[in-house]
Amino acid sequence: MQVLSFSDYHNLSDFAASQIAFAIKNNPSLTLCMASGHTPSLTCDLLVKKLKEENIDYSSLHFLGLDEWAGLPPANEGSCHYFFQTKLFGPLQLDASQYFLFDAMADDLVNECNKMDEHIKKIGGIDMMLVGIGMNGHIGFNEPGTPFNSFCHVARLDETTKTVGQKYFTEKMELTKGITIGLRHLLAAKKALLQANGIKKATVIQQAVEGLVTETFPASIMQQHTNGFILVDEEAGSFLNKTH
Ligand code: PGA
Repeated sequence: MQVLSFSDYHNLSDFAASQIAFAIKNNPSLTLCMASGHTPSLTCDLLVKKLKEENIDYSSLHFLGLDEWAGLPPANEGSCHYFFQTKLFGPLQLDASQYFLFDAMADDLVNECNKMDEHIKKIGGIDMMLVGIGMNGHIGFNEPGTPFNSFCHVARLDETTKTVGQKYFTEKMELTKGITIGLRHLLAAKKALLQANGIKKATVIQQAVEGLVTETFPASIMQQHTNGFILVDEEAGSFLNKTH
């Protein structure tokens, strides 16, 4: 794992978008798995811009959604589905066959997990993952205590996730469970980027990068990734005390 520091959120997002665009250029049938949320928002916008301006062929790109709030309809503006639809699928006019997301409205969510696990296996694994980090160190809905070897699963949400998660919604939401791609898939991804910006992420970044590798702090798994990169802006990286 390597830490890469950027002066601000824009430069950090621009780097991530360039990395993804470059990867698609080199491998038009790239499988990309991304998190939704505030952190990757600008990366999505810049990625759309780069793919179009640089005339990169993304017609064979395959996209996987990292997670979803259980029971939330895709039309809800706080859903991961809505985020990708408006930020990527719509602007890029991706064909529905090019993306695979959890159906969080399904009666049988365990079956949804199995479907995603099988899908990942069938397509030969994930080439590139872009994730964020939660205020409890989660990645996707891999909450504290999630085994590092977990496949896709339904997670009971941690109190921090329930509270912080309210920021995505206009009304108070009852958030109890999430469905997520597991940490095993992150570790197996050929390349993994974890992004964080802002002073509020400084503590969790320090713990992820310099703390113990432990399942009680999921993002510490990045230390085990041989092609893993932690992208931070100046504020998010400001508590790091070693040279990485
Ligand atoms: P954020 O979410 O990008 O909205 O801060 C990060 C996360 O909880 O994984």
